Amino acid sequence: MKTRILGKTGWTISEIGLGCWQLGNDFGPVEERQALAVLEAAMEQGINFFDTADVYGAGLSEERIGRWLASSSSKQKIATKVGRDAALYPDGYTKEKVKQSLQASAKRFGVDVINLAQLHCVPRDVLFAGDILAWMEDLQKEGVIEHFGASVEMLDEAKFCCQSDKLASLQMLFNVFRQDAVEEVFPLVEQQNIGVIVRLPLASGLLTGKMHHGYQFSEQDHRSYNKDGAAFHVGETFNGIPFDTGVDLVSELSAKLTANQNVLDVALRWILDQPQVSTIIAGASQSSQVIRNAQASELPALDGELHAMLKRFYQTKVRQHIRGGI
Ligand SMILES: NC(=O)c1ccc[n+]([C@@H]2O[C@H](COP(=O)([O-])OP(=O)(O)OC[C@H]3O[C@@H](n4cnc5c(N)ncnc54)[C@H](OP(=O)(O)O)[C@@H]3O)[C@@H](O)[C@H]2O)c1
Repeated sequence: MKTRILGKTGWTISEIGLGCWQLGNDFGPVEERQALAVLEAAMEQGINFFDTADVYGAGLSEERIGRWLASSSSKQKIATKVGRDAALYPDGYTKEKVKQSLQASAKRFGVDVINLAQLHCVPRDVLFAGDILAWMEDLQKEGVIEHFGASVEMLDEAKFCCQSDKLASLQMLFNVFRQDAVEEVFPLVEQQNIGVIVRLPLASGLLTGKMHHGYQFSEQDHRSYNKDGAAFHVGETFNGIPFDTGVDLVSELSAKLTANQNVLDVALRWILDQPQVSTIIAGASQSSQVIRNAQASELPALDGELHAMLKRFYQTKVRQHIRGGI
């Protein structure tokens, strides 16, 4: 597993990380034993960066990570998120309540200080008011958190966050079906030494190539109840692309690849070919997926012709289908 530096944290982290939303049962049921096996498999692959949030499974994802940390001897970096629990979202934001939410996360992890706390897609007006970023700086000085970052929906929110001197990382929706950050945000993060954490690298699984028309998701799975954005931002589910359109686009893209290429490897490798990216937090509900995704770190970079094709494909075929804005 190759490593990269995560922005101002200075941490050396695995370029493939693990997204732990799945461990809160928000992609369908994942039993405790299976969740711990996913975490263990990740560590065995050399993954040392884990992303979660207080609201994933209403604390379950953090609790499971906490139980796993208690039984594991190796050093992991855990990033969590704050800002979407009922006490804060949508309009209850105060510094004291943010601090309380973070302390509750620390308790679930069984630690005194949180490694990295990311604002969790807080409402645009709250973010743009600027106070919440200043509170995070204060909480860093108070020792509640080691570092802070932001997870955002939109490129203008990402650009706004880049103005914060102390912001260590930016978590963004970014994949071969959502490429605009390359030109719009990456030059800024480079200037400001902000690490990019990529979420939805596989567009909620579409870019694995395993999904087809009529594919069934359980009722508890956001890919069932949020497929059109009924519960939260539509971009977080299938990258904002209507499911059937996404399936067709993946088939069309697969047909353009050579016999020894597949869409999953190409999708992950394309992200790693962007030097501003620190880590990809691919989500996994099974150990086999973690093992498979970790292999992307060992693949060679894609050639220029393939990069050009993927750019053209995105601009002419995909971009127009993204709902919820970019
Ligand atoms: N607002 C935010 O800050 C925010 C929002 C969304 C996500 N995130 C974070 O980003 C992480 C990644 O995003 P995501 O999980 O939504 O999307 P993703 O990584 O694009 O897709 C994950 C899904 O793809 C499938 N998959 C992954 N690897 C596979 C493999 N090798 N073979 C077959 N299927 C595979 C699995 O589907 P099945 O479970 O169906 O097998 C898995 O649940 C999350 O876990 C979370 O930590 C943050």
